[in-house]
Formats: sequence, structure tokens, C-alpha cells
Amino acid sequence: MSYYQRHIFFCLNQRDNGEACCAQLAAQSAFDHCKARVKALALAGKGGVRVNKAGCLDRCAGGPVAVVYPEAVWYTFVDQADIDEIVDQHLQQGRVVERLVLPDSVGR
Ligand code: FES
Repeated sequence: MSYYQRHIFFCLNQRDNGEACCAQLAAQSAFDHCKARVKALALAGKGGVRVNKAGCLDRCAGGPVAVVYPEAVWYTFVDQADIDEIVDQHLQQGRVVERLVLPDSVGR
């Protein structure tokens, strides 16, 4: 059994050269909201859920992006309601939120 049941990584990469990056697309506020909701639902910690920052995940064209393990499901999101759905459905119940899944064809 793994230490965490599920682990979500948010790209918070900031580029200063004008190229698109997740930080321009409110990734930090999505990360903060996810962390707060996981904590509020008492999902955080050993045997539960861990929310982590990441650098560029190299799928910038679909930004902002996050990935959930162990299922390796990639998401793109727009607002806090999307984050709520990922937390409530996937992180808590193990159900993939199909409408937010990032297609495999989306790369950098
Ligand atoms: S900047 Fe977010 S995936 Fe590259």
C-alpha cells in the first residue's frame, strides 16, 4: 500500500519570456483552493490525499494542468468549481471527472 492513496500535482510554472505558462492561468489559486478543500474534508495526510506544487509538466498547451496518481489522470480546469469536482469525485471517491480530462494529444 502506498503512503498516500492519491497524489495530485499542479503545474505552477511561471515563465517570464512571454510564452504561455500555467501560472498565467490562475494555477496558484486553483492549487490553494484544492489544498484548502482537501484539508476541510479531512482527506489530507497518510493514507489520504497529498496536494503538491510542480514545475512545468510539459503539457503547457492544455494549461492550467494537474495530474492525479496513482491513476495518472491528467486534468485541465477553469475555475474553483472544477477543482471542487476533482476533489469530491476523484480524490475522495476515485471517480475520474471525464469532462475535465486532458486529451493525450495535448502536449507542450
Ligand atoms: S507551464 Fe504548466 S505544463 Fe508547462
